[in-house]
Amino acid sequence: MSDAAAWRELFVATDRAGLAALGRAAQRAVDSLDQPHRGPRSSRTPAQLRDAVRALEVCPPEGVALDTVLDELGAAVWAHGVRPLDVACVAHLHPPSVVPAVVSELTIASSNQSMDSWDQSPAATEVELHLMDFLGRRIGLPAESSGVMTSGGTASNVLGLTLARSWAAAELGVDVLRSGLPEEARQWRFVASDQAHFSIQRAAAQLGLGRDAVVTVATDERGAMAMDALDATLDDLAAQGRRVIAVCATAGTTDLGAIDPLLAIAERARGIGAWFHVDAAVAGAFVMSEELRARVRGLELADSVTIDFHKLWWQPFNASALMVRDVARFDLLRVRSNYLDRGDELDGMVNLVGRSLDTSRRFDAAKVMASLRTIGQRTFAAMLEHLVALNDYAASVIVDHDDFALVAPPSSVSCVFDAPHYAAHDLRRVQQGLLADGSMVLGRTEIHSRPALKFTFMNPLTTREDVDQLVALVARRLPRRSTAHEDDRG
Ligand SMILES: Cc1ncc(COP(=O)(O)O)c(C=O)c1O
Repeated sequence: MSDAAAWRELFVATDRAGLAALGRAAQRAVDSLDQPHRGPRSSRTPAQLRDAVRALEVCPPEGVALDTVLDELGAAVWAHGVRPLDVACVAHLHPPSVVPAVVSELTIASSNQSMDSWDQSPAATEVELHLMDFLGRRIGLPAESSGVMTSGGTASNVLGLTLARSWAAAELGVDVLRSGLPEEARQWRFVASDQAHFSIQRAAAQLGLGRDAVVTVATDERGAMAMDALDATLDDLAAQGRRVIAVCATAGTTDLGAIDPLLAIAERARGIGAWFHVDAAVAGAFVMSEELRARVRGLELADSVTIDFHKLWWQPFNASALMVRDVARFDLLRVRSNYLDRGDELDGMVNLVGRSLDTSRRFDAAKVMASLRTIGQRTFAAMLEHLVALNDYAASVIVDHDDFALVAPPSSVSCVFDAPHYAAHDLRRVQQGLLADGSMVLGRTEIHSRPALKFTFMNPLTTREDVDQLVALVARRLPRRSTAHEDDRG
């Protein structure tokens, strides 16, 4: 075979022969997922996994047949990955992925549109804009709202707070992108609850304000921002001459799933002229259910909203969005470039690079839209409602169990509990033991320094019987006799 013929086989061609070859390779890739191991993960140790992976030369002098490469990956990697669809995979906000999204990944990668400029993604740009419009309507944002897809909740939070910072500077007549932070920025603060995701701190750090610029507010027994604490914090900050440039609420905290009182927080933010950002990475999906959407009332008042499709929308990583109340606010971010975003394009050609902290960017909107169209409103809402009800059930099982106590009442899809008669090291051993032998991927965290275990329900196929079994399995791993020492519990 000539070099050119061999090279040609490497690329995705959309002629009939090229697509047939892609289809055969795709089938082989799918077959490589068919592995004998069952359960949420195999029991291989880190050293065994390392040895199996290191045995594969990354770039050998001569290439290996694709079928062989796919089989090797199947045996060394897919066989020993975590399986988010297993009912015992309950540690994190880590969803099983739906088929329409997964097959769309193949077409996304094959067509390789890049979302930075219209000339690299003409129809794809329209899809992303269409999806953002849909999301804005579901949230209840005004017609002039829009958004942009990002790589995750962290990136969306950073983007939202970057806009908030630029907004605060613009109010002082300063273009922060050009001239950097004004002198007044020393007094700028973000306010968020003590359960907010660490990406709020990361945003403050990256924006040059420093992590200390995030002032945390105490939470109530559910883990939601306490309004009296917020009011006291805002009063204190005002008395110290600080300027709160953004109030960040969370709709669905990472551990407890708690939803801050969005309506009341929106009102306080407006009262002090602060940007109102809502990290709805977790509970943002509730806008898809008539039953659940009341829990996130107030989201429609936000200046910016983080939505994570790769959580309760069952999308494979990466898929997130940052929505803004008024699309014109993205102009605060825009850096024109001669080659990409000149501003003299023909009417209607939108270059999404103007909204993003990325330049080249994946067409993740396609898989989200394919999934939502396939699943449909009714089934989507039903799956979500099932998970919330399942989590309530899990909480009731924990409450009734002799060994366990609930750390906080359930709010979304996570159930955090501890074992009052046992020590922190017992909880650690239970969680690590289940992980090591591959029988459960269980969450472990701390709430206000209280060590705890956590179920996060992301898989709508999980039943109440499964929950009973999960609780029983955890209980069986507790040591026979209490080894509790008060000192150890901190
Ligand atoms: C509330 C919340 N916000 C943001 C994030 C960060 O999301 P990502 O991992 O997609 O960056 C998480 C992650 O779990 C989260 O729980």
